[in-house]
Amino acid sequence: MSAPASSSPASAQAAPLRFALVGCGAIAPTQAKALQELPGQALLTHCCDLDAARAATFAAKHGLAVASWSAILADPAIDAVTLCTPSGAHGELAAQALRAGKHVVVEKPMEVTVAACDALLAAQRASGRRLAVISQHRFDPDARVVRELLAEKALGRLIAADIRIPWYRTQEYYDSGDWRGTWALDGGGCLMNQGIHTVDLMLWLLGPVREVYARVATAAHERIEVEDIACATLTFANGALGTLFASTACYPGFLARLALYGTEGSAILEGDELQTLAIRGRETVRGAAGSAHAHQVATGGTRSAVHHAEAGQTAAERPVWKWGDAHRAQFAEFVQAVRENREPLVNGDSGRAAVALIHAVYESARSGAPVRLA
Ligand SMILES: NC(=O)c1ccc[n+]([C@@H]2O[C@H](COP(=O)([O-])OP(=O)(O)OC[C@H]3O[C@@H](n4cnc5c(N)ncnc54)[C@H](O)[C@@H]3O)[C@@H](O)[C@H]2O)c1
Repeated sequence: MSAPASSSPASAQAAPLRFALVGCGAIAPTQAKALQELPGQALLTHCCDLDAARAATFAAKHGLAVASWSAILADPAIDAVTLCTPSGAHGELAAQALRAGKHVVVEKPMEVTVAACDALLAAQRASGRRLAVISQHRFDPDARVVRELLAEKALGRLIAADIRIPWYRTQEYYDSGDWRGTWALDGGGCLMNQGIHTVDLMLWLLGPVREVYARVATAAHERIEVEDIACATLTFANGALGTLFASTACYPGFLARLALYGTEGSAILEGDELQTLAIRGRETVRGAAGSAHAHQVATGGTRSAVHHAEAGQTAAERPVWKWGDAHRAQFAEFVQAVRENREPLVNGDSGRAAVALIHAVYESARSGAPVRLA
């Protein structure tokens, strides 16, 4: 294991964090590209998969060396692992890597049960290494604009939220891997696998949920153990009320939508864009790619923001935010966190909170009663 950044800031700042990627399936190419787009910060050197042929093909395509899991753990030149294995195989592998002195990134969800998240958190704390859970939509520029607006209380006191994730997955998608749609390895359905992105964004923007009352159903797919529709009402710790609808049965699939309503205004994120921003007494912004302008409207142009560099750009001039950019941004922030010896933005506590909320939905749906979260 090379020296952690904190022990030698000067040399570590110069050296990229050396990564191995574990699980060369559907999300792995996105992660490999993201890491390879961070020269000087990250260096992806090895990959590993239980399926040797898949690992070899992936390694050849991305210019990597194949290694066994035990070789990755034993290699002192590998600083960090990123886990792209099925969700229920995150915790044990992550804990082994942390015990071997590696920093760890796990794909969402952090694990499939709250107990498994707690075990991983305990392993991380004992290790002194850093753990991040991929939740890339927190890094979408417009999500960050909304977060800033809320920090500035630009919407007043938050009173309500309406969260919808009307997505679609084919039966072939669920049939494409033994682990998909199972409690043991997927940990749930449309909420645990797909909706968790928006659930995490919601918790980041609105804060914790105190109570959940929910119904779920498996309505449009076969051979899955888990839900493809979930509906819940939420009571947030700050008193706001919310509705949460998630599905993988809404053909042909629609953009996720997160609408926030405050006493002084409203913000609506659709997909990864701020579609509507309306603040009492100020201009209403509507339409895609409005964020730079939206932020100026919200702040009266008085305060520089995450997007100060974009200020003055028209929507057409604004760089297109593509699939993979948010993964790259999250990896960059993770490397920075390791170098600065601080928690990454989406740490183990955040990962656990999203899983705990989703399990509260499942428990309420099972019992028919509201569930209070600690
Ligand atoms: N952030 C996102 O937008 C996003 C998108 C898709 C998937 N994911 C997450 O990524 C993870 C993987 O999903 P996927 O769709 O890529 O799955 P996948 O089934 O396509 O790939 C998983 C790979 O892991 C390998 N594997 C399983 N156990 C292993 C082990 N112990 N050691 C090494 N390799 C092992 C499998 O052989 C397979 O190649 C899941 O947790 C999923 O929720 C995140």
